Amino acid sequence: MSTSRKRLGVFTSGGDCPGLNTAIRAIVAHATLSYGWEVLGILHATQGLMERKAIPLNAEGLGGMDVLLNMGGTILGAINKGDTLGHADEVIAGYHELGLDALIAICGDGSLKILHQLAQKGNWNFLAIPKTIDNDVALTDRAIGFDTAVNTVVEALSRITSTAASHDRVFVVEVMGRTAGHLALYSGIAGGADIILIPEIPYSIEGICQHLQKLRDRWGRKFALIVVAEGAKPLEQDANHCHHASIAHYIADKIVQHSPIPIELRVSVLGHIQRGGAPMAMDRLLAAGMGNTAVDLAAQGTFGRMVAWQAGQVVTVPIAEVVAKCPRHVDPDSFLIRTAQGLGIYVGDKPMLPYVDPILCRNEVICAI
Ligand code: F6P
Repeated sequence: MSTSRKRLGVFTSGGDCPGLNTAIRAIVAHATLSYGWEVLGILHATQGLMERKAIPLNAEGLGGMDVLLNMGGTILGAINKGDTLGHADEVIAGYHELGLDALIAICGDGSLKILHQLAQKGNWNFLAIPKTIDNDVALTDRAIGFDTAVNTVVEALSRITSTAASHDRVFVVEVMGRTAGHLALYSGIAGGADIILIPEIPYSIEGICQHLQKLRDRWGRKFALIVVAEGAKPLEQDANHCHHASIAHYIADKIVQHSPIPIELRVSVLGHIQRGGAPMAMDRLLAAGMGNTAVDLAAQGTFGRMVAWQAGQVVTVPIAEVVAKCPRHVDPDSFLIRTAQGLGIYVGDKPMLPYVDPILCRNEVICAI
């Protein structure tokens, strides 16, 4: 299948998130209008390659595509399960049989690892754009979808706070994030949490109970908000935690068992609402900037790179390096942990570090003082 026009494939792989359609829109607009490329949307990522299922995407009348700006999910469908490597040859052949000159995947770190292998084996002209509400893709400060998910959780926390306060209840709110605590940390600080538990910092039930007691003694506060990341496993060797419906339920049970004062507890596991909804402005900007840049790379014939967001701008990084460094975890010494501690939030059993200006710190002389 060969045409004189270059043909660009695009797909979305891994769990969906807000901003995917915005990125697709940006890719189609820039590829067709600026470079005159043809764009094929591959349906359900590698499954579409395997089954040769794709649809033409064009910007004629971007009016029709404007609706994509506001739409959650992905019009191309996605997959985050399946034995892709077991069908590597069929998937690889799909790229060539569809006549692609380049392929852009909007994906998280799990998919990226697999796609990187396929791209190398199949000699694909491959580029990636990071997306995930977990924000755990290495070498990028932000992935598409994270900002909107943070806003969704903050909105939920504000609703929970009013009912918690009215009934003098302690709420344990579980948020997603897989093995990383970015979503819990950002939304917990922004949403007024009293306690934030993340996988990167050990915590104890005793520490949690002491903090709840302190809220009562110091402020007379009987209600509280505990935000726990789904991957924040307990430090105590308690095989029992596996028998709970979720980590939030386990923590709630433990607090009831160990608290010296009676506490009325409720659990709220936010679940997939964190992945839905229209993208917020930051995700739209990120998706547009990243989509645009990926198309520029394809047009220049530069491949094997992921578009990333570092220090307030779009940059590109080698996919091989990203894959080697994933997943990206919360740095326990980061300014956000210090900020949380400064606000009096319990973030686990970790002493507060002194403030060090990260820019001045690059100057070894000042750091040495
Ligand atoms: O990686 C995104 C994510 O939403 C994680 O935060 C969560 O653990 C997982 O996907 C849920 O996956 P599924 O949609 O397969 O239940």
